[in-house]
Amino acid sequence: MSQDRMLLKRDIKEKKELVNIEMDRFLPRKDEYPKQIHKAIRHTLFAGGKRLRPYLLLHTYQLFGIETDKILPVAAALEMLHTYTLIHDDLPDIDNDDYRRGKKTCHVLYGADIALLAGDALLINAIESINNAEINDKLKLLLLREFCQETGHRGLIAGQMVDIESEGKNIDEKTLNYIHKNKTGRLINLAIRFGCILGKASEADTENMRIFGEKIGLAFQIIDDILDIEGDQETLGKSPGKDNQQKKATYPSINGLEESRTKAEKLIEDARARLERYGEKAIYLDHLAEFLLTRKY
Ligand code: IPE
Ligand code: IPE
Ligand code: MG
Ligand code: MG
Ligand code: MG
Repeated sequence: MSQDRMLLKRDIKEKKELVNIEMDRFLPRKDEYPKQIHKAIRHTLFAGGKRLRPYLLLHTYQLFGIETDKILPVAAALEMLHTYTLIHDDLPDIDNDDYRRGKKTCHVLYGADIALLAGDALLINAIESINNAEINDKLKLLLLREFCQETGHRGLIAGQMVDIESEGKNIDEKTLNYIHKNKTGRLINLAIRFGCILGKASEADTENMRIFGEKIGLAFQIIDDILDIEGDQETLGKSPGKDNQQKKATYPSINGLEESRTKAEKLIEDARARLERYGEKAIYLDHLAEFLLTRKY
């Protein structure tokens, strides 16, 4: 393994632990009444996961700011928010998936009723965790406004909506981009936007990082679509072949595998060019962008 890869791996592990500790501290204990809901929440949240969105927030913030400890509750909020979307996405009425993060999905273990509530709770927890952060009220309001915009029915929910209604249909690339941009891009965008707001980045830097986020967000979902075809269950931690089974509109289903990979490569190359102006400070974001292309899970 190259030294760069080792550096990235160690840094990802460190940040993951910080975020896990923050979420563990925030959440009720497993045995608190009513037990089943707390168990269900913790099951999917701590089953694994790359913690990509907190990582993006922390490193975008570190381009501009220094007090990382203060923003950990916001990083934890992003992961709880993301995990809510996964629990609901896996439900029988949406993607009907049995595996997630290498374990049985929340509804398989606890039932769809409890999984629905666990997702709801995580969404609310995310808001509460942002509110608990020791940052000034004006910044909090800005974060919450962005939160609603990105995750609401004109954001992530819209992406999930069109994803569902496009199953089994021949859609054009414009619609596919709409799905990916919203269902996946919005949360990645939110992580980066939070980093810029908290780090008080200039308008020019915020715009530059928005473009970085837009590019890695689309590349991320293209690779997710490719991994659904090429990945193996053990490494991936979720069942491959599901997109084809459910006749999902994906990049490879419209453009083929080779063109999809070339598109992802180009997006990552363009994204990395956006980091050049930050020099050494952006080294981890740069490694991460590269990892998004080569990842197997
Ligand atoms: C999976 O996201 C859902 C998509 C948006 C494609 P991740 O691949 O980041 O999932 P975890 O958090 O690592 O499990
Ligand atoms: C999930 O997209 C996007 C959200 C959860 C918002 P996918 O349905 O492609 O994600 P996986 O493949 O189940 O992780
Ligand atoms: Mg889905
Ligand atoms: Mg899914
Ligand atoms: Mg997928």
